[in-house]
Amino acid sequence: MKYKIPILRPFMPKGIINKLRKVLYSGWIGEGPVVKQFEQALKDYLGNRYIVSVNSGTSALWIAYHLAGIKKGDVVITTPLTCSATNIPLLHLGAKIVWADIDINTGNIDPLDVENKVKKIKKVKAIVIVDYGGMPCDMDRLIFISKKYKIPIIEDAAQALGAEYKGIKIGNHNDYVCFSFQAVKTITTVDGGALCLKNRKDYERAKNLGGLVLIEIKNIRRKNPGNTI
Ligand SMILES: Cc1ncc(COP(=O)(O)O)c(C=O)c1O
Repeated sequence: MKYKIPILRPFMPKGIINKLRKVLYSGWIGEGPVVKQFEQALKDYLGNRYIVSVNSGTSALWIAYHLAGIKKGDVVITTPLTCSATNIPLLHLGAKIVWADIDINTGNIDPLDVENKVKKIKKVKAIVIVDYGGMPCDMDRLIFISKKYKIPIIEDAAQALGAEYKGIKIGNHNDYVCFSFQAVKTITTVDGGALCLKNRKDYERAKNLGGLVLIEIKNIRRKNPGNTI
C-alpha cells in the first residue's frame, strides 16, 4: 500500500474562510487588530515582549542588518548553506561576505571556523547564523564568541519557530532573531515574518525602520525587475 505524506502541505483549520472574510472586509488588510493579536500571541508563545511582525522573513533580516549597522564594505561572516534570502540583503547593502564552514553533522555554521575567521580578519561587523532545517545552532559557543569579540549575531530562524535550545525557545538567545511565516514554514500567514529583539530601544528602532526598509526593497525591485527579493 502506498502512503502519501503531504509534508509541505499547509494545514488550514476549519472555519478559516469565515475568519479571512472578516479581515478582508474589515478595511484592515495590511496592519490592523488581527496583526496586533498575532504579534501578542507570538510574544506570549516565545516569552519575548520585543517582537515586531513584518511582511516577510526577508524584511525581518533587512531590518536586523540595518539595526546591526551593516554598511557598504563591512565584513560579515555568514553561512552558504541556507535560503538565498539570508545573504542577498547583505549583497544589496554592499557588505563583504565571508563564508564560514558548516558542521557536517547539523548543517549549521561551525563556531570553530567562525572564531578562526574573526581572529584572522579582525574587523568583522556581524555574524549571521541560520538554524538550518529548524535545528538550533551551537548557541553557547557562538554567543561566547559574540561577547568575547563584541560582534553582534543575527540569527536567521526562518525555519525554527518552536525549536528550543537548552529549554529556551528560539527567539530569545540573540540580539536579532528573524522568523518567516512563508508558505512552507512551521506556521504560515501565506507570507510574513517577525523580528525578535532584546530591548525596547531596538524594538522602537525596528518599528521605525520597517517602512524605510520596505521602500528600499521596492526601489531595488523597480530597478531590477528580475530580482527575487
Ligand atoms: C533560512 C531562510 N531564511 C530566509 C527565508 C526568507 O523568508 P521569506 O520567504 O519569509 O522572506 C527563508 C524562507 O523562505 C528561509 O528558509
